[in-house]
Amino acid sequence: MERSFQLWLYSCFLIPVLGILPEPKNVRMNSVNLKNILQWEPPDFYKENVTYTAQYISDRTFDKCKNIILTSCDFSDISKYGNYILRVRAEFEDDQSDWVNITFCPLEDTTIGPPEVLVESLTGSLHLHFSCPKVENEPDMWTLKDYYYSWTYNVQYWENGTNDKLEKNSIYDSEVLTDLNPQTVYCLQVQGFITDKNKSGEWSQPICVQTTDNVFGTAFPQHFISLASTFQ
Ligand SMILES: *[C@@H]1O[C@H](CO)[C@@H](O)[C@H](O)[C@H]1NC(C)=O
Ligand SMILES: *[C@@H]1O[C@H](CO)[C@@H](O)[C@H](O)[C@H]1NC(C)=O
Ligand SMILES: *[C@@H]1O[C@H](CO)[C@@H](O)[C@H](O)[C@H]1NC(C)=O
Repeated sequence: MERSFQLWLYSCFLIPVLGILPEPKNVRMNSVNLKNILQWEPPDFYKENVTYTAQYISDRTFDKCKNIILTSCDFSDISKYGNYILRVRAEFEDDQSDWVNITFCPLEDTTIGPPEVLVESLTGSLHLHFSCPKVENEPDMWTLKDYYYSWTYNVQYWENGTNDKLEKNSIYDSEVLTDLNPQTVYCLQVQGFITDKNKSGEWSQPICVQTTDNVFGTAFPQHFISLASTFQ
């Protein structure tokens, strides 16, 4: 039997009659820096004409996206402090699939993106400036620090060409690396770390910067700005 005919059989008779519209597939939360997008794929045999409803359950059940044709739903505006069951189902005419449920706790489950890092090479030291990742859908300037009070920057640095990594932690938005060899290229990368949750963020891309001489005082500062690693 030809495959398209099988499909036609399924979609015209079997599923509506038996009421077995399959569930959306591969349902997962894509959450970075508290931007929370539930994603899924269409059920087997249904590429078109299917709609979806996605809900969250905390004390009650709320529709977040109702009868949509997209295969994603934005849950970024739910409270960050909740602990939810999210669920999505497929709908086709009068039929509907079972719910597919996942649990989601924004502060626990979101991926912490890398901070932005700016490096100044000054009198033999490296002066670092960090920007904590911003949180979408929140007032300007809100960053992950506003949600994670034990936020720390972990810095890893090494002489270019070696694997001998040194570490430094800072709770502030700046840090100075000292005791470096003069006129030497160092590379560094930075991650956010939530101490009280033992939760690590993603590392920024390595930035490599040459130190100046430390003996003769002020050299001209060299500025290096990392590529902002933004996630969509
Ligand atoms: C999802 O949860 C509902 C209750 O909210 C339950 O009836 C259903 O069986 C669950 N589905 C799966 C696939 O676990
Ligand atoms: C770092 O070292 C590699 C070789 O080990 C070299 O190719 C690269 O140019 C160095 N980077 C800088 C910024 O000097
Ligand atoms: C923190 O997490 C790391 C892995 O992510 C684990 O190896 C370590 O044991 C944890 N520390 C504590 C105190 O739970």
